[in-house]
Amino acid sequence: MSRMAGDRPRVLSGIQPTADSFHLGNYIGAVRQWVALQETHDAFYCVVDLHALTNGEWDPAELRQRSRVAAAQLLAAGVDPHRCTLFVQSHVPEHTQLSWVLTCLTGMGEASRMTQYKDRVARYGAERIGVGMFTYPILQAADILIYRADQVPVGEDQRQHIELTRDLAQRFNHRFGDVLVVPEPYILKATGKILDLQDPTAKMSKSSESQAGVVDLLDEPAAITKKVKRAVTDTDTAVRYDPETKPGVSNLLTIFSVLTDRPVAELEAAYDGMGYGALKTDLAEAVVGFTSPLRERTLGWLDDSGRLDDVLAAGAAHARKVAAETLTHVYDAVGFIQPRE
Ligand code: TRP
Repeated sequence: MSRMAGDRPRVLSGIQPTADSFHLGNYIGAVRQWVALQETHDAFYCVVDLHALTNGEWDPAELRQRSRVAAAQLLAAGVDPHRCTLFVQSHVPEHTQLSWVLTCLTGMGEASRMTQYKDRVARYGAERIGVGMFTYPILQAADILIYRADQVPVGEDQRQHIELTRDLAQRFNHRFGDVLVVPEPYILKATGKILDLQDPTAKMSKSSESQAGVVDLLDEPAAITKKVKRAVTDTDTAVRYDPETKPGVSNLLTIFSVLTDRPVAELEAAYDGMGYGALKTDLAEAVVGFTSPLRERTLGWLDDSGRLDDVLAAGAAHARKVAAETLTHVYDAVGFIQPRE
């Protein structure tokens, strides 16, 4: 099924509220591109709090706070509720309702092949992970299919989940009629992949062992300066972009280039022969110059939680309208009796 011709293509993406703050990698890899896409697409952006339960361990007060921070940071970063639909996943019950139908159309083998799940099992053992971790990609498929999204902006690590989503949509349509839209992955640029400052072979990640390599968007300026200055580089001194042999320096150049809009080649030329110290000093300044106003705006949203909740309520109201319509078609198609009004 498709929507009316002339509509802008619809995108849906989600981000988990599983940390006290988003980090620079989240911003450069995803959020920044969400902000750009709202200009050209009918964008739905979702704080996926249901997904935040899948590790089986959460603290209710912490989850509530993290969901608010996530929404506040998206708004502070430029996600504009007048240009897109920003909402919290648990505010739209249709996600879980569709998820059940999809769960019943998913094979055990198919779900067992998801690499994120397999990695967890390998790391912690099947006894120690929950069923929610296993069914997580099916809920993700529901997030996407309930809005009949055309495209899904995600990082490369999510490609397999989008494949599953496509398979489920096709299977559904084949069996029950043309109800769902089969979405395309919209893989975010590889240049958006920011590495850990302490271990530039790994992605900057909230789950890294040391926080010294992760710049949180809510970090204090002094902490950021320290993290940038202590970033792992190499024993050479040349400021040169070469991700293979100089991953640390290349990562710093990528961050610098994104935040200042200066091409990497221009930065290489500007710091030629100056060593890493000068690069790090200026980069620290650029990062602080970027995060400070962002932090202020985030705290502003958090201080005014009434306004934040209003924005999220309006987003959820719009999302629900779209989601409820899809769910009605799905329920009808699979053979549920439509309830009397
Ligand atoms: N699984 C995604 C991640 O961990 C988050 C997510 C949940 C998502 N639902 C989504 C992403 C729907 C895109 C579309 O990054």
